[in-house]
Amino acid sequence: MKDLTILKPDDWHLHLREGIVLKNIIKFSSEFFGRAIVMPNTKNPITSINKCISYKKSISEGLPENSKFEPLMTIYLTDETIKDELIEGFKNDVFFAAKLYPANATTNSSQGVKKIENLYEIFEVMEELGMPLLIHGEVTDPKVDIFDREVVFIDKELLPLIQRFPKLKIVLEHITTSYAVSFVQENNLGATITPHHLHINRNAMFFGGLNSDFYCLPVAKRENNRIALRKAATSGKKCFFLGTDSAPHLRQWKAFCGCAGIFNSPVAIESYIQVFDEEDSLDQFEKFASLNGPNFYNLPVNKEKIRLVSKSNEIPKFIEVIDNNKVVGQIKPFHAGEILNWQVEGIVN
Ligand code: DOR
Ligand code: ZN
Repeated sequence: MKDLTILKPDDWHLHLREGIVLKNIIKFSSEFFGRAIVMPNTKNPITSINKCISYKKSISEGLPENSKFEPLMTIYLTDETIKDELIEGFKNDVFFAAKLYPANATTNSSQGVKKIENLYEIFEVMEELGMPLLIHGEVTDPKVDIFDREVVFIDKELLPLIQRFPKLKIVLEHITTSYAVSFVQENNLGATITPHHLHINRNAMFFGGLNSDFYCLPVAKRENNRIALRKAATSGKKCFFLGTDSAPHLRQWKAFCGCAGIFNSPVAIESYIQVFDEEDSLDQFEKFASLNGPNFYNLPVNKEKIRLVSKSNEIPKFIEVIDNNKVVGQIKPFHAGEILNWQVEGIVN
């Protein structure tokens, strides 16, 4: 039996949702992650200090007793974002970072940014403040093929942005292409990589019939991209760090409308370490999971450690959503019904 003890990891990209779903799923992140950057694309997006404070309060209330988990909150940028609100929120530790969704790029992004140039004044202050900009890097032009949206975004939107704001601290989120892997390294950006983009290529969405379980945005790409992502994540390079993009959708909705998002927080650590094991890179796992993120964000690393052991780990087919002792829904986790080779054994001090 193999085992590995690493500093407690953080999740640098997470969707916690609201209400009953939040209450049911937060334990999967708070148990073995120290911190998480919480995405602001709630139904009514987190566009102001007040909304952010009340969202953070509901997250804290949903945490198990005595949990030390720390949610790091973000502001959802729109064409109407008020500069002073952003500055005040950042200076008072309400906002840890700002999230840029191109309008209609993904779930709950209709109020996102219509024209990136409209935010230049905002980026100028963020650059001065050292406030991180987290980017969903896809264009939304319907003429651009869905599999090319990340690459076109990099060329048309990201490159001009970094040329104009060279000191802006940027994270290209959930990268999916070898093109992004190279661009991030060449331009001193940070990038999160999800477990699902390390495991699946675009065939997964079409295997055994149209399968929305593997539909997420950006969509998984060709196999050569998955290989490039696995190489990047397991390289230990400082610019690549863990961000699950765990995005739960109730089964009834996912099956009905095929919403984009893969719920991986119940299996994320095990899913990632399996990749590092397969790539013979277990010695690089702590960098990716627990060191590179804090280093990028200038935060201390977590004090506690977790121990992982290689043993057969059967993943449940569904996670139940419970309200007032009644099952009100189900969410399918990533790797549902599969057997993974690793398990988190627990926290060690
Ligand atoms: O697949 C995704 N789901 N990608 C995103 O960018 C958003 C997320 C969600 O909120 O469901
Ligand atoms: Zn996301």
